[in-house]
Amino acid sequence: MNKINSIEEYHEEYSKSVRDPEGFWAEKADTFLWKKKWNEVLEWDFDAPSVKWFMGAKLNITENCLDRHLENSGDKVAILWEPNDPNESSIKLTYKELHSRVCAFANVLKRNGAKKGDRICLYMPMTPELAIATLACARIGAVHSVVFAGFSARSLEDRINDATCNIVVTADGGFRGAKTIQLKSIVDKALENCPSIERSIVLKRTGEEVKMEAGRDVWLHEELSRVDDVCPAEIMDSEDMLFVLYTSGSTGKPKGVVHTCGGYMVYAEYSFRNVFQYEKDDIYWCTADIGWITGHTYIVYGPLLAGATTVMFEGVPTYPDAGRFWDICDKHKVNIFYTAPTAIRALQACDISLVKKHKLDSLRVLGSVGEPINEEAWHWYNDEIGKGRCPIVDTWWQTETGGIMISPLAGLTPLKPSYATLPLPGIQPCLVDADGNEIVGNDVQGNLCIKYPWPSMIRTTYGDHNRCKEVYFSAYKGKYFTGDGCRRDEDGFYRITGRVDDVINVSGHRFGTAEIEAAIDEHENVVETAVVGYPHEIKGQGIYAYAICHDTNVDIALFIQEINKTVTEIIGPIAKPDKIQIVHGLPKTRSGKIMRRILRKIAEGDVSNLGDTSTLLDPSVVEEIKAGASLE
Ligand code: WTA
Repeated sequence: MNKINSIEEYHEEYSKSVRDPEGFWAEKADTFLWKKKWNEVLEWDFDAPSVKWFMGAKLNITENCLDRHLENSGDKVAILWEPNDPNESSIKLTYKELHSRVCAFANVLKRNGAKKGDRICLYMPMTPELAIATLACARIGAVHSVVFAGFSARSLEDRINDATCNIVVTADGGFRGAKTIQLKSIVDKALENCPSIERSIVLKRTGEEVKMEAGRDVWLHEELSRVDDVCPAEIMDSEDMLFVLYTSGSTGKPKGVVHTCGGYMVYAEYSFRNVFQYEKDDIYWCTADIGWITGHTYIVYGPLLAGATTVMFEGVPTYPDAGRFWDICDKHKVNIFYTAPTAIRALQACDISLVKKHKLDSLRVLGSVGEPINEEAWHWYNDEIGKGRCPIVDTWWQTETGGIMISPLAGLTPLKPSYATLPLPGIQPCLVDADGNEIVGNDVQGNLCIKYPWPSMIRTTYGDHNRCKEVYFSAYKGKYFTGDGCRRDEDGFYRITGRVDDVINVSGHRFGTAEIEAAIDEHENVVETAVVGYPHEIKGQGIYAYAICHDTNVDIALFIQEINKTVTEIIGPIAKPDKIQIVHGLPKTRSGKIMRRILRKIAEGDVSNLGDTSTLLDPSVVEEIKAGASLE
């Protein structure tokens, strides 16, 4: 087993991984089930970019997630599902049951025309069927593209079309807290403009009436009654595509990050086991949605590869009350709990008795992901939830990295609040200055890059390899650029300071400011918008939009409502601006570039030192914006 047991062992492993990366990863990969071993461990060129791991090897990731556990742990619970409504029963699926459900679902996909290499979109609530559908795609070698079920019809449409999916799997609806989301009707709307879709397979979850289009839409339960549960795993090449997952960048539309089978598998398991220091009978719960990378790697693949029991939660942290997370921890005796700082801060702001009435004595390890965790939230998490006896792993990584890159190993690495601490073995981070020079030594700050490939790294952006090159491999020659700023302290510990590009992180969700601007611009009264992030107590960052209107004589409350509606329609409710200010002009340079630095300062409420504004085309707009902002 690939488990590190002490900090000394970590340092040894780390040195080995730098000295002999290929030997190091070959040893890790050896513990998996391969149909055929590799001829070569790694071939890479960051300029192309081209990265290939375990070349020539053949495998199917689901055999490693499921089949290989059947003999010894077939009756162990693989997925423990907790419904939105606490009065509905939870569901336990053993490895045997999950295996048979995945095979049956895979046969449904095949019956509906799916084959190896096809792209299949999953737009589903957090039900066991979402995990099953994900694995069913992998079983038959189809590429899954999971779209978070909070995105709008337009976003779904864009993602389906970008990857030319031929099947979409959805549900009649989904429960989230007190709300019901009508997923099928959102899909219907999207499919008006998705010519590649031949089938939609619909799970019955809410029981609401939905429109079924003959020849296109089929019910999952009816399809399941027509298939058996025997489905041999498709043999995949190590570098065949496993999935595409869309994420926002600083420019353009969200891009499809592509991950491949072999390397992703090895790194997902290795990082899961070591970061959380997973032990055989642990109950592990990651509160993310499978629609994000965290759910892919640390609800589905990592835990199942390790043979763990992974908890899946359908609902939200505040329903029926803000004690729900802690109810679930006690109910299922959760040992490892992994969530986002935004959830911690939101729950911290609620009545503490909702925490105090719980035992929380099964918890052993706590995790944090998605955004920097501020010290106050860190201490509250540590004191109130971990009772001072559970190490917190602050895990830094990205959709593009596939797995956790910089993080403590629970209980082994010394902790520092707000520090992701040290890189995992195999990960070679470096800091660079504005000129692209590597900053060596400690007690320094710069832009975070990774200078050597790791198995689960992004291979391309779907349908546009050049974009992958431009965004990640062109800023600094020979290095993968993360988009994050970072400090390395006197002990060599890493602290992520946040994005240095035009990406904002709202409640752990990534958005490009340009993407939100484009959405707001669709409102008929908007001439131009500029969007920036600003510090927000709960969300980490809030969205501040400055809008120039054709008609400035508007009812501001109504205007805000309309903008929210527009953004909800185009992206989804999670991208709604927190603040909107109507302005007459934006601070632009003579070449027409918006000086966001100034807008960020004003949004932060820090107007005392706006820096040099002399290069602006019209410096007076700054005064107007400042005056307008202070009125709020
Ligand atoms: C941010 C989520 C500080 C970072 C897994 C990164 C973090 C972006 C942390 C990726 C952390 C993630 N500390 N910042 N522990 N984890 N981030 O693709 O800015 O949704 O670039 O992946 O989230 O977001 P993504």
